[in-house]
Amino acid sequence: MPKTYRKWIFAKPMVDDRLGVEQFELQEHPIPALQEGQALVRVKLVNIHSATRSRMAGGMTKQGDTDRSNYACAEVLQSRDQAFKEGDVIACQAGWQDYQVIRSDDRSVGYGAASEAVRAVNGTNSQWTYVFRPAMVQMWPPEVLMDIFGTSGMTAYFGMRQCGPLRRTDAVAVAGATGSVGSIVAQLAKIAGCSVVGFGGGPDRCRWVMDSLGIDYCIDYRAMDFERQLKAAFPGGIDVFSDGIGGSLTATVAGLMNQDSRLFAYGGAGAFYADRLDAPPQQRPSLRRAFGISEEIEEILKQRNIKSEAWIVHDFYHERLKAEDDLSRLLQSGALKPINNVVDGFDNLPNAVVGLYQAARSGKLQVRFSPY
Ligand SMILES: NC(=O)c1ccc[n+]([C@@H]2O[C@H](COP(=O)([O-])OP(=O)(O)OC[C@H]3O[C@@H](n4cnc5c(N)ncnc54)[C@H](OP(=O)(O)O)[C@@H]3O)[C@@H](O)[C@H]2O)c1
Repeated sequence: MPKTYRKWIFAKPMVDDRLGVEQFELQEHPIPALQEGQALVRVKLVNIHSATRSRMAGGMTKQGDTDRSNYACAEVLQSRDQAFKEGDVIACQAGWQDYQVIRSDDRSVGYGAASEAVRAVNGTNSQWTYVFRPAMVQMWPPEVLMDIFGTSGMTAYFGMRQCGPLRRTDAVAVAGATGSVGSIVAQLAKIAGCSVVGFGGGPDRCRWVMDSLGIDYCIDYRAMDFERQLKAAFPGGIDVFSDGIGGSLTATVAGLMNQDSRLFAYGGAGAFYADRLDAPPQQRPSLRRAFGISEEIEEILKQRNIKSEAWIVHDFYHERLKAEDDLSRLLQSGALKPINNVVDGFDNLPNAVVGLYQAARSGKLQVRFSPY
């Protein structure tokens, strides 16, 4: 059993919202003896979410502390908690650290309480702490468990279901098609037989989208004539718009949505990647506003009877097993492809997080702490 664990902390405030490796510091601490109701896990891999930098800037990740909200795959090494047994492979929230003590009683970090239905499936108080079925662990490596079967794949799956049934005649627009959720949404919409156009940041990104996701077309959202290209790509208007970006892009695309169409708004990643971050709002905005549905867009939605809901994916986690089975079948048939973007090594975590905002990458950025 390990005696100590290593942890990256947020050590120094950023200047002008610029994130560098100097913001991180490595610490080593003894692993405490396990109390009743606790389990010790070895973190195998963490997902790095695009909100990481704004969490640090906005004080959600406190200086001197690690970011405790990362979604991670871990193996249970020792357990005095009835919900876990030795050898279980689980999803949980974790700090930037290689070992962690968890409890099934713990609530999630940064989210409300899990619903009763989700608690019943998970056997824990957190919507994010969940023991994978052994068959899933045998079939899929941690990077796939935490991507296709993690928040990205589940958001795409439930989002397309809630926008459905998707019809073969639907013209679907996918913002952030190079991103973790968008790259899966685009594939699922194509599998449903729709005509699918994604948006990517530049010609190379668009080429990647077309080559890797097998969709019909991709438009560079940075192009000066983006709106003209959008109109040309959707001569009959847009039936489904999948949007995790928000901001001016959402407003432009919403203007081309058809009567009775469907908007799947699930995030506002555009703001996370901006050179300057928005100041944290005085009051917590509604999910709709946080996901880029401004008052102006609400008006368009009303006028055209566009269906839209805003939710966090864990609202559907009581249906997770069916989603896992459906997505597993699509992966096994080769219709759906996982997009792997894994950085190796616990020591490389700061570089990986910094690189997220500096270099183009596709799919979910993940850091694998040690060979499996
Ligand atoms: N509701 C939920 O339950 C739920 C679940 C998962 C995620 N989310 C949220 O959904 C959002 C997207 O998540 P994700 O993990 O898919 O994000 P991601 O992997 O970080 O991808 C975001 C994509 O956004 C594109 N992008 C960045 N700035 C842009 C801009 N100004 N205009 C247009 N596109 C831009 C990038 O494309 P290029 O690199 O090609 O420029 C990037 O590939 C986040 O806000 C996340 O918090 C919500």
